Amino acid sequence: MEEAKLRQLLNSLTIEEKIGQLVQLSGEFYNASDISMGPQRKLGITQRMVDLSGSVLNVAGARQIHRLQEAHLAKGGHAIPLLFMSDIVYGYKTVYPIPLGMGASWDPALIKKAYENAAEEAYAGGQQVAFAPMVDLVHDARWGRVLESTGEDPYLNAQFAKAMVGGFQSGLKNGKGIVSCVKHFAGYGAVEAGREYNSADMSISNLYQDYLPSYKAAVQAGAKMVMTSLTTLNGVPATADKWLLSDLLRKQWGFNGVVISDYASIYELTQHGFAADEQDAAYKALDAGVDIDMKSPCYANGLKPLLADGRLSEKKIDAAVWRVLSLKNELCLFEDPFRGSSEALEKANLLTPAKRQLARRVSQEAMVLLKNQRHLLPLDRSSHHQVALIGPYADEYKMLGLWAIHGDPKDTITFKQGVGEYLDASRLTVEKGTDIIRDADFFAESGRPEDQANSQISDSATEKKHHDSAIAAAKRADIIIFAGGEHTLQSGEAGSRTKLRLPDNQQRLLDELATLGKPVISVIISGRPLVLTDVLADSDAVIQAWFPGIEGGHALADIIFGAYNPSGRLSMSMPAVEGQAPIYYNHLSTGRPEKTSQHVGRFVSRYTDAPTGPLFPFGYGLSYGEVTYHQPTIDQSQISSAQSVTISVPVENAGDIDRTETIQLYLHDEVASIVQPVKRLIDFKREVIPAGKTVTVSFEVKAQQLGFYNQRGEYVIEPGKFELMVGPNSDETQAVEFSLKD
Ligand code: BGC
Repeated sequence: MEEAKLRQLLNSLTIEEKIGQLVQLSGEFYNASDISMGPQRKLGITQRMVDLSGSVLNVAGARQIHRLQEAHLAKGGHAIPLLFMSDIVYGYKTVYPIPLGMGASWDPALIKKAYENAAEEAYAGGQQVAFAPMVDLVHDARWGRVLESTGEDPYLNAQFAKAMVGGFQSGLKNGKGIVSCVKHFAGYGAVEAGREYNSADMSISNLYQDYLPSYKAAVQAGAKMVMTSLTTLNGVPATADKWLLSDLLRKQWGFNGVVISDYASIYELTQHGFAADEQDAAYKALDAGVDIDMKSPCYANGLKPLLADGRLSEKKIDAAVWRVLSLKNELCLFEDPFRGSSEALEKANLLTPAKRQLARRVSQEAMVLLKNQRHLLPLDRSSHHQVALIGPYADEYKMLGLWAIHGDPKDTITFKQGVGEYLDASRLTVEKGTDIIRDADFFAESGRPEDQANSQISDSATEKKHHDSAIAAAKRADIIIFAGGEHTLQSGEAGSRTKLRLPDNQQRLLDELATLGKPVISVIISGRPLVLTDVLADSDAVIQAWFPGIEGGHALADIIFGAYNPSGRLSMSMPAVEGQAPIYYNHLSTGRPEKTSQHVGRFVSRYTDAPTGPLFPFGYGLSYGEVTYHQPTIDQSQISSAQSVTISVPVENAGDIDRTETIQLYLHDEVASIVQPVKRLIDFKREVIPAGKTVTVSFEVKAQQLGFYNQRGEYVIEPGKFELMVGPNSDETQAVEFSLKD
């Protein structure tokens, strides 16, 4: 529709019709009039508002979406098509590993393709907006939503944010693809103590330096929608933060898309004690810059009285409605309210072999080999060894993680299936050994007591049978593969935990397996970095598999049998004990660093009862074979602000197998007006280093990259000495120095 016509449409709307465009409800409101009475009554909005609402949350599938859209348009009046939005966080039907796993791939180009595929599937099914990527930077493994993040580094996160937005939206130019809604703006990842929905407090320089870059990268990559955070940032709820939503996002960053609240977060302004009542909440959110109210009664009931009171101007409402209508128009919904989606298109596009193949690749790249003593891995499939695959994830298809809401776990290749493709049945025994979790209270605490009733906890006789069969199989075997980890409900939204270990029953089983004197390979499923200290002690090899997605079984087997040389590198530090959280590599320099302080013993920055450093640092991961990073060199020792330096490092593969290295470049500003991180990632390259070859990898660093954000949020570059550090992870680096002239 031409802009002038869209303007006319806006001007012809009644105030209720306008407000309707700013209201988003979930599917239950539309499915059938009898069910809709429930939530509607609870939310306290009228049927008229339901009829006028402008967008729908988390309804999936072409058939359903067509039915809703048709029914909506048949209501007559201005009949503005509904926008369908959904959480397509890491895949639609073809589910990939969780984003924390994608982060470990260090391969944004591959991830972009995965999101293109996700968009193609979702588009076929009638979706128009994905509530993703979630680009919140994370430091604290206690927070369940680290699952949805690509990790702890601002630079790496920004690369993924760009890739994910680009992937979702790349089809838009051809009338396909879907809109990306980046979330949760801003700072949700810093919730205090890792407790869900808690507050976030940080300095301005920290906010600009660490937390904002990924949102900014997403906006610069063209994300057309932004979701606010449920939390407060420096005392102000993000959903009503005018500075954040209007000054920074719209004015400074030039964002002109739609801002949506998070689920009920406008209503929750009253719970925060930031708004006196729902009407006041509606005022504060709209005034701050929130266009759409997701699943709360505040806009539906509050905006009209605010207008009547004169507290709010119609102009302000019009501006928000205009943005919503413009998005609908951009998606050509007025011309085709179904945007070409259909069940036939779904059949042709969902879960195709090519898409599954890509998911297998992402899953391979996401897995991180943490330990491989005496080169136990890869296993030789042609040897005559007997393998016992033991553990609650040995033959479990529920490996998609909490946010794969459109995926069907039954599409998952289990570890048993994957390993079974490499070993014939006479050499493989599979035993569950124990349940994932045996704590009935856990299911009640997770709000899902019915899961336990659905026999997730075996009775004690069955549990004993599982245990005894597993031990017997392990005794007969030459090699044990243990597959264990977190329950799906233990991570994801509202999955904060203080104990980050394997469930006790699993650890006990693993301890017992370790006493048998056979080589043990542990495969860990989780939505977060767990504390793997005890697992490590029991295992000769450890593979961190995350929630690996529908191709997890294939990918794992590819790694175990060497068809894929593991290349994953952690994008979040793994704590050695829970009490270290939050722990991250790019912390500020302290006055008493443990290793180099003039003080010794007690009076340095450390714990008295635990190591200071993580169990595995950011960037860490093993591959098969041997590489050596030789001494890096730099082409200049001094540059001016218009110049750049080039650092080069020869990486030698002394082994007999090709491997992919992620060569990581870190920077340290030696003296600055704000204390700087001990190191921070500024670039990386994923390179294949062929067996027996040395590849020299170079990075050009421009003076512009040497700056940081000060306490006023300004990017400043200060002359002086800098260190460039290069290596295979954030810990094992070699440094060269140079300086920037005045
Ligand atoms: C989550 C968002 C999600 C929304 C809609 C909220 O609870 O915080 O990330 O997009 O629900 O499902």
